[in-house]
Amino acid sequence: MQPRVETKPAAAGALAETRDLYTNFYTFEGVVRALNGVSVVIRRGETYGLVGESGCGKSVTVRSLMRIVQAPGRIDSGEILLFLNEQSRAQGIEIIQRTEAYMQSIRGCEISMIFQEPAAALNPVMSILDQVAESYLFHRMGQMIDETVARLDGERAAMHRASPRRALRKLQVALLKTERSGLRSDNIRQVKIDNELNLLEDRQDEEARERKEFLNRRRDRTRPSGNIASVARRVPLLRRYRRPISATIRRHVVELLRILGIPNPENVVRRYPHELSGGMQQRIVIAMALSCHPTLLVADEPTSNLDVTIQAQIVELIKELKRTSISSVLFITHDLGLVAEVCDRVTVMYAGDVSETATVRALFRGPLHPYTAALLASIPKADQQEELSMIPGAVPNLIRPPEGCRFHPRCPKRMEICERQKPLTVEHSPGHWVACHLYPGAAVND
Ligand SMILES: Nc1ncnc2c1ncn2[C@@H]1O[C@H](COP(=O)(O)OP(=O)(O)OP(=O)(O)O)[C@@H](O)[C@H]1O
Ligand code: SF4
Ligand SMILES: [Mg+2]
Repeated sequence: MQPRVETKPAAAGALAETRDLYTNFYTFEGVVRALNGVSVVIRRGETYGLVGESGCGKSVTVRSLMRIVQAPGRIDSGEILLFLNEQSRAQGIEIIQRTEAYMQSIRGCEISMIFQEPAAALNPVMSILDQVAESYLFHRMGQMIDETVARLDGERAAMHRASPRRALRKLQVALLKTERSGLRSDNIRQVKIDNELNLLEDRQDEEARERKEFLNRRRDRTRPSGNIASVARRVPLLRRYRRPISATIRRHVVELLRILGIPNPENVVRRYPHELSGGMQQRIVIAMALSCHPTLLVADEPTSNLDVTIQAQIVELIKELKRTSISSVLFITHDLGLVAEVCDRVTVMYAGDVSETATVRALFRGPLHPYTAALLASIPKADQQEELSMIPGAVPNLIRPPEGCRFHPRCPKRMEICERQKPLTVEHSPGHWVACHLYPGAAVND
């Protein structure tokens, strides 16, 4: 079969996609060329693995996907497409051009991330409750107000007609309802702006560019409406009308921690990160990622610093969540054994390049890329007699990456062409993509 040369990854069933992404870090020592044209597709409903040695660009790929690359890093070119809802499903929303306000409405809501280092991801001076509550306040405020109003209405009905507390409840409910209606109209305004931006996405003419700039500015300015509730929020005594919302959020947080297997969650929410074990901190980070029921959960080495039993519990937890509440999981790990256990498809990365993408079964049965083959050969087996195989050398410094195929200094099969030409990605068999000059089709690279 003649392999197909991949210029753009197929978007069939895609939920998120990067196309030819270049992300660089502009450091004092020089430019770290961290991503060298990375194209990956995460499909709806799958668990997708990203593997490779340390420093291969796994975290930078997902940070780019969420547009949270830290300074001095920058996405220099490429496209990031999200297919999150009906409007965007056909052609995808390109997010590199979108404003930070738009990204904030997606991050932690549609896409959320379990960070690699739980201790670094948690704020040491905020209680667990305050940290997990943030995303309820930011993304699920409408639902929290609705639930609070329903509770207060119930309490009010049970009070004596002449009771001053009943009058106070009435005022509280009225203010909460005004805040809710303000939120609703803000949401409608934002959705209208987003829909218009989606329609303008492919137009590059001057008129469309000006309109896009105007709409992006307007979206950034969308703040909670200036209604009575927003005035009440500035008056110290009246501001207390919002207190019952905290109780509603607290109930949700405690319930979430309970689902995640944290013992005594009512007590844990009052504690600070340093008072918790590594496994518990990891669960709190997972709780923060799950609090908004994300469509895509990105788990960046969620078990790397944990002992084996806790690792197994966290992996089981993610598998269970995938079955029950999350559409897709992007799972990053060094551990190929974990990939075999958890993932449907997998991409192997090396030094900022995508080396190979396939279903887990195809990759383990017949790895094509010499780097994948070497990684698989280095997994210890239970009945191993001979010495463990290892890959000679190390991942290169990406300030001066090797020319051509970045793996060539370590590759046992390198050829002359490998030192000067980057291999193209080809579809060797259906759904099995490889970037290596050993496979026909790669030699047509320009
Ligand atoms: N803030 C930064 N400043 C400079 N270079 C960076 C920065 N963050 C990442 N890099 C570089 O980008 C490259 C890819 O790093 P990345 O963190 O994505 O690796 P990784 O595959 O996630 O590794 P690990 O498995 O150790 O987490 C590395 O060469 C790294 O040095
Ligand atoms: S392109 Fe060449 S150097 Fe790179 S993996 Fe293939 S054979 Fe090895
Ligand atoms: Mg990483």
